[in-house]
Amino acid sequence: PPIAQMITANDFQIAAKNSMRARDYAYFRTGVLDEITYINNLNIWKKIRLNGFSFSDVSDVNLATTILGYEFSAPFFFAPAASAGRAHPDAEASIIRAAGNAGILYVPSISSTLDIEEKAAAAVDGQIMFHQQYIWSNDTRLRDELARIEAGGFRALFLTVDNTGVVGVRSRYERFSNSGNSAHSSSFTIEALNHLRTLTDLPIVPKGLKTAHDIKLCAELGFPAVYLSNHGGRQVDGVPTAVEILLDLHLQYPEVFDQIEIYTDGGVRRGTHIMALLALGVRAVGMGRPPIFANVFGEAGVTRLINILRQEMITEMMNMGQADVNHWFGNTTFINTRQIE
Ligand code: FNR
Repeated sequence: PPIAQMITANDFQIAAKNSMRARDYAYFRTGVLDEITYINNLNIWKKIRLNGFSFSDVSDVNLATTILGYEFSAPFFFAPAASAGRAHPDAEASIIRAAGNAGILYVPSISSTLDIEEKAAAAVDGQIMFHQQYIWSNDTRLRDELARIEAGGFRALFLTVDNTGVVGVRSRYERFSNSGNSAHSSSFTIEALNHLRTLTDLPIVPKGLKTAHDIKLCAELGFPAVYLSNHGGRQVDGVPTAVEILLDLHLQYPEVFDQIEIYTDGGVRRGTHIMALLALGVRAVGMGRPPIFANVFGEAGVTRLINILRQEMITEMMNMGQADVNHWFGNTTFINTRQIE
């Protein structure tokens, strides 16, 4: 279908399903086991109520914010998702250019189609990018990659801590391939995390935290931010959605919201989903699959996805009497948490 028919983020997924090899689509789409977490990620929004205020000046809506101190044009970003080249020959480069031209953060995966230097070279003038990293059991490989990420000008590391031991059972994809990734370190401890901190000067953001307990722990360990994620339902089936974990955090350790920045992702497909997470105290909201699927149209597709999400946010914010993503009318009161059972 022509790109003009892409009206929602989900339209790109349908276009991708219809145009990609079944094996590649399954790779991007799959969750683990029964995909309970994957499905809950997509459905949790139905339980959320956003409060709208009637009396407010919304003639000038602002989406711009900072993430780890860097300025971006919106509070959503593109999360690391491996092997973008399965969707488009430009691979990560088209996502990088679209994000860079729009002032959106993109955090490419260490398991990208392009290598670190190719991604750095694809950046547009002044573009700020972070980079994702795994803890490999091979320390030499880890040190080499960290040095190249630093040399490439990436400003921070998202250190993924939720598939360090073993990759989840991705049944949907296993119908096409049974290859697992054995390069990960299966002894991921706080010591290993602290060891990694000695190997680089870049700020490190642990990605893949799934409990209020671990978020509190990382805040105490002095990380500047944490990234709450169930890996798009691709690692453990049955773990909660971001919304549910954020509600736990509000109950158990509300002070954490003032101590560090919190990023999250999982099932975000609409401007309203981003707004719900911001209302729950999150600084920035990631998306993994949407930019991959938009990238079947290359850079123009990813640019269109960005514009769709921006427009959804602006329109909803205006109708809710909310003029600035940085000044919510009181964070959690924005969500009627009693509606979440
Ligand atoms: C991922 N994700 C991921 N995360 C990471 O830290 N390193 C990686 O290499 C990958 N690779 C990857 C591949 C694919 C195909 C997907 C779909 C996801 C997880 C990703 O960063 C993010 O947490 C989820 O994708 C968020 O869920 P949604 O937005 O896809 O629903």
